[in-house]
Amino acid sequence: MAVGYNPLPGLLHVHPLKRNGFFRIDQAGSRGGGGRNRRNVMDTALLLAENHGFLPTRGSLMLDFVFVAMIGVVPILAVSIYLTKFRHKYQLHKQIQIVLGVVLLLTVIAFELDMRFWTDWEALAADSPYYQVDEWSTVWYSLIVHLCFAIPTPLLWIFVIVRALRRFPNPPTPGEHSRSHIFWARLAAIGMCLTAVTGWVFYYLAFVAE
Ligand code: HEM
Repeated sequence: MAVGYNPLPGLLHVHPLKRNGFFRIDQAGSRGGGGRNRRNVMDTALLLAENHGFLPTRGSLMLDFVFVAMIGVVPILAVSIYLTKFRHKYQLHKQIQIVLGVVLLLTVIAFELDMRFWTDWEALAADSPYYQVDEWSTVWYSLIVHLCFAIPTPLLWIFVIVRALRRFPNPPTPGEHSRSHIFWARLAAIGMCLTAVTGWVFYYLAFVAE
């Protein structure tokens, strides 16, 4: 049994917790028959499956992915709102919003699966000065604030998108639904931005701070 063997040295950062704790690769199991390349592929897949993040932090693969995805989502949302407000490109706005909505939904599902079945985020946060085992800590407070935005926001997005698809004509143009759409859509956009910002704060406190 090799503990902490990294098939991508230099590319992937191995956190000591992962090296000594739950990050284990059974080399004997992947040795038979396939040669060195196959072993490397299998080891790499195992490494990724065991939540090895790609950022030089303690974050898991999925946490790192969500952290980076949010950096993309916020400016795209801003561009989409600019396109409708100042350029009147309603069809483009519709397409961008639907894609963002699907990305948001897939991210939330992947994140939930990761947290429930693969990643013990509290173990990864153990080295943070803002985290205490079995106690309320800054990390926990920041997570609760984050969840206050992260849980209602996808629901709000579904609500806004479904209503917009039903009530605007196709292709969309301003009309009777505009007033209501602008009110709820602004809330949805603000919710998304606050989900991103509070998520970044939680990520920093739990998985970056030393
Ligand atoms: C969650 C998804 C969405 C968000 C966050 C969103 C956001 C916004 C915002 C903030 C505005 C107002 C811009 C301003 O201040 O003037 C707006 C306008 C508009 N949106 Fe959306 N939108 C979404 C989905 C959609 C969809 C799916 C459609 C089409 C089916 C659509 C069609 C429109 C139209 C036609 C306007 C112009 C309304 C007017 O100026 O009278 N939106 N959207």
